[in-house]
Amino acid sequence: MTTSIRTQVAILGAGPAGLLLAHLLHKAGIDSVVIDEKSRDDIENTVKAGIVESPAAAVLAESGVSDRVYREGMKHDGIEFHFDGHAHRFDFQDLVGKSVYLYPQQEVLKDLIAARIRDGAPPLFEHRADAVLDAESDQPRIVGTTATGEPFEIRADVVVGADGSGSIARNAVSSTRRDGYFREYPFAWFGVLVEAPPTFDELIYSRSEEGFVLISTRDQKVQRMYFQCDPLTDAASVSDAEIWDRLQAGVHGTDLIQGTIFRKDVLRFRSFVAHELRKGKVFLMGDAAHTVPPTGAKGMNLAISDVLWLNQALRSFFASGSEELMNAYPENALKRIWKAQHFSYWMTSLMHLAPDASEFDTRRGLGELALLTESRSAQQALAESYTGWDYGVAFDPPGP
Ligand code: PHB
Repeated sequence: MTTSIRTQVAILGAGPAGLLLAHLLHKAGIDSVVIDEKSRDDIENTVKAGIVESPAAAVLAESGVSDRVYREGMKHDGIEFHFDGHAHRFDFQDLVGKSVYLYPQQEVLKDLIAARIRDGAPPLFEHRADAVLDAESDQPRIVGTTATGEPFEIRADVVVGADGSGSIARNAVSSTRRDGYFREYPFAWFGVLVEAPPTFDELIYSRSEEGFVLISTRDQKVQRMYFQCDPLTDAASVSDAEIWDRLQAGVHGTDLIQGTIFRKDVLRFRSFVAHELRKGKVFLMGDAAHTVPPTGAKGMNLAISDVLWLNQALRSFFASGSEELMNAYPENALKRIWKAQHFSYWMTSLMHLAPDASEFDTRRGLGELALLTESRSAQQALAESYTGWDYGVAFDPPGP
């Protein structure tokens, strides 16, 4: 027997985008059901990156998800760039009067899940979607299977695919899964999690002769660090000594505090924007619609922009039946998507060395870094982008 559920908005994916959309819709009295293949435990305990931009922190706190991002997140007023033997600090407060918050994504997820439970609409975990059907009808649906093998179906007025880069919902929107604009990079990140106190108060982005290094953090006890590597590197084959050498080579003037490396992974990435963000009553947001390289940490912050535009469109649809803002969703969302694509691509190109870079390319790159760090207006442009552009749409938009 197939369990059948009926709701107004069926949301695939209990990530930041899907859960935040459910929260905002609930505030407007719109019912939704969020499903995810993973267990709650898995979602809440997978350590993830977390630079929360200033406008994103405001959405989380002011929409009533939680103000924990302000109370427990680490406020960062700047970042450092290390290159060509010296260090340069971008002072965000001085440049644009804003900060970012280091608040790992799993903490955002804990807050969002707690809000769904508080509102009496807990996500359905361990529910795997097999397909999204009938996109162009008035009753699209998700069919899937629970972890114990029982089939289920969710019928809705609207289906939202917030199910990440391997999106199932994308199959219902695009003719092929790879149907999009994309760019590959000839390098990847070798990432480590280290049990050690932080060496620095702020993040260090570095470009050295061996390429990119990023010294980031998770909390007072766990540090996250990366260095540029070949995408085909086998993570287990790189020794701890080599890892510390590569990381230290990117840092000028300070010895990194070392500790036990308890995870090594190779992160491959690319830039991607799906050709279509909507088909009929099925919409894509977040990583299901686009992915950015990790440099600059735009992923989650960008997903929140999609959520705000779709929230506005769905509120208008359920209040008046008008599809005008639904029709406008792709165009509205794409403006920020392409700005973030540019910024992430630019930060990536600026700080990495392509394996086939010529001497000209390397020296030109140092020229670009010099221009950037010697010009206040260029630094302001970086600080504006890094701390986050205003979303341009409210989380509680006025009714139609
Ligand atoms: C991370 O902590 O994983 C991180 C931080 C900043 C970035 C990218 C990743 O730009």
